[in-house]
Order: sequence, then C-alpha cells, then structure tokens
Amino acid sequence: MTSYTRPLPDLTKRDLSSLRDDFPILNQQVKGHPLVYLDSGASSQRPVQVIEAITRYYERDHANVHRGIHELSHRSTTAYEAARDRAAEFFNATRREEIVFTRGATEGFNLLARAWGDANVREGDTILLTEMEHHSNLVPWQMLAERKKAKLAFVPVIGLEGKLDADALDRLLTPDVKLFSFTHVSNVFGCVNPVTDLCRRARAKGITTIIDAAQSAGHLPVDVQAIGCDFLVCSGHKMLGPTGSGVLYGRYDLLAAMPPFHGGGEMIEIVRWDRSTYKAPPMRFEAGTPSIAEAIGLHTAMDYLCAVGRERIHQHDAELVALARRGLGALPGVRLLGPAEGGTGLVTFVIDGVHAHDLSTFLDERGIAIRGGHHCTMPLHKKLGLSSSARASFHLYNTHAEVECLVDAVEAAIKFFAG
Ligand SMILES: Cc1ncc(COP(=O)(O)O)c(C=O)c1O
Repeated sequence: MTSYTRPLPDLTKRDLSSLRDDFPILNQQVKGHPLVYLDSGASSQRPVQVIEAITRYYERDHANVHRGIHELSHRSTTAYEAARDRAAEFFNATRREEIVFTRGATEGFNLLARAWGDANVREGDTILLTEMEHHSNLVPWQMLAERKKAKLAFVPVIGLEGKLDADALDRLLTPDVKLFSFTHVSNVFGCVNPVTDLCRRARAKGITTIIDAAQSAGHLPVDVQAIGCDFLVCSGHKMLGPTGSGVLYGRYDLLAAMPPFHGGGEMIEIVRWDRSTYKAPPMRFEAGTPSIAEAIGLHTAMDYLCAVGRERIHQHDAELVALARRGLGALPGVRLLGPAEGGTGLVTFVIDGVHAHDLSTFLDERGIAIRGGHHCTMPLHKKLGLSSSARASFHLYNTHAEVECLVDAVEAAIKFFAG
C-alpha cells in the first residue's frame, strides 16, 4: 500500500546513514557544533516525506472529514481513512475498525481508563501495572482507582537492569485483577519486555491486557495478533510522525462493548434533546474534528518505517546501544541502567557526583541533545535511589560517530565536574 501522497522508493537498499539526508533538521549547527540529536525517545525527528505529505495535504486537499459532500471533503476523508487502513496493516489488526486515532499514547491511556475502566473496574478490583511504567500508564489508573475504590498493584523491577520479577507476576495475577497494562520497551531501561508471554499469562486468567508501544512502535515490528494483547497505544511523534497523532488499537468486541470517551460531533447516530445514540467503533471514539493532517503524516511515517524495515531499525538501535554501553560503561563513576544485553533504542546512566541536568547542559554546549531528569518515571527513580538520570536515545538516523561523540563529551564532562 502506498501513502496518499508520493510512493516511497525502495529504501531497503539504501544505507541507513544515507537516509539521514531525509531528515533536514539534523543538518544544522547548535552552539557552533554539528547537532547530535540523541533525544528520540522523547520525540523523534521526521523525514522530509512526512513534512511534504502534510504540506501537500494543506495546499491541495484540506477540508473537514466525514461531513461534506464536496470534492475537498471527499479527498480529505479518503486520505484520513487510508491512514487508518495503513495503521491496521502496520499493527496487523484483524480489521480497520480496531484502529482509533488519538493524539498520542497519553490520550490512548486516558480513553481506556475512562471508557473501558469506568465500565469494567469495580470496587475492590485490582489494576496491575509494572514499576517501570511511564506516568501516562500510571496516573490515569490512579484516577480510575480513586473513582472506583479499586487497588493498584505493581510487578517489581529487579535492580538497575530493569528486569521484571517473573516469579512475583505469578503471585500478582490474582482473581481480583481486571487489567494488566505494561510497556513493550521501557523508556528508562530500554529493555524489550516479553509481551507475548505476559499477555498469554494474563489471558489465561481472563485478565484484559494493554501494551504501551510508545517506545517500540517506531523501532521494531509490533504485531497485535502475535502479541495477543487486547489493547495497544502509541504516539506518532515518537515514530517519525507528527505531534498530536497516535493510535489506539483495541480488539473489536471490546471496543464495541465500550461507552464513548468524549461526546460531540461525528461520534453519534441520533441526537435528541435528552439523549443520543452512538456510532460503532472507531467513530464512537473520535468525537469532533480529528487531527486529519497528523493522521496523514503518520500514514507516511508508517510507510517510511516499513520501507526501511523495522527489523533493520531494531538491529541498528541495538548496535548503537551496545556501542554506547561499552563506551560509557568504561568511564569512571558511570553506572548504566538497563540490561547488559538485548537493550534497544536508548541508554540511561548516572554519573557519581554529576547531576543529569548539569550533564545535559554541558553536552548542549557541544551541540549534543540528551534528556536529563526522571523521564516521567518518578516512583521508579525513587525506588532505584536516584533523583534523576541521563538518557541518550536513538533512531535510524543516528550514527556510530555520534555515539562516539557522546562518549567523548561525557568523558570531558566527568573531568570538568571533578574540578
Ligand atoms: C513508554 C512511554 N509511554 C508513554 C509515553 C507518553 O507518550 P506521549 O507523551 O506522546 O503521550 C512515553 C513518552 O515519553 C513513553 O516513553
């Protein structure tokens, strides 16, 4: 399937380093140095093909979707719905109606906590998470638990490697657990959790599962049928797509049994003064004017990721992580988080005596963008005894030379802060 805009050339033959030229933002100097962008875990950059798709849509075809009978509305609706087909194929959903467009992973979780959670979680029930979840897969469940007088439980994380405690999971999958929601790839450890196995174990006990694919969808193949999850959420801006775009996948029977999240135009069938009836999914969950250009841009981003090859991106990420771990791990006072092997996409570390914010500022002076802080995992950082950590995160456009540049700059920082 090609994108609504220009078909992409075959990128599988092109060297990844040459694809870097597709990302115009990377070709700039920051503070007198070539930009080294190592913050794709927070938000990736987007290729020119995605930027052009959005521009062309606005230049030629924009109108509201699903409501007009005129030509532009028809074009816009066709493009928006083609993006849904693309997402269904990208995640291997069984049908296109299982794809709901959202503004990102956070909105996906809030939708599920309200629409699925309010209908299915009762007083005394337990919502099971893991200790490595991003706040977006924690706070909406805290709010649901408060509304419903339900409980939260957490699969523990073992040590700085961030391994999930599999033995504890057996104990934690008790009859009162209604939901198990967990991340595919941790935004702190970079570990790839065994999602298929975790879903199988939960399903065997009748527990509904949600996968947080925010850090995986743009980096490795994600197949909802192979994983066997009930729901999955992700953010377009982390997978080479626009901000304000995202996907919620839901098994159709579950979506069809859920009440709406937001009320308003386009999600209704018949509206009376006192009550309304609602459309079937996915429209039931897309009230009002959706993020049309964003869905179209995300379509091209998914085309791009598939044209490059998600296995290839995964392998490239893993190579960069291994290189970074070797280099950073050899520096004095550096402690690495995440698994020694098998990590992907990012490396998180702490340096004795150097605050992550000071390190980030030091690196920024050299044109290197990393993230310092708690990475929206405050309770996890507290458990690990850390107030903050530094994180370098990669995408297909990053190079070995950039990782070496990072390691050299961190070494310089250690010397600088040692006085
Ligand atoms: C693992 C994980 N889940 C969820 C999110 C939330 O994504 P967004 O802010 O795009 O909604 C992030 C963002 O960093 C993340 O890393």
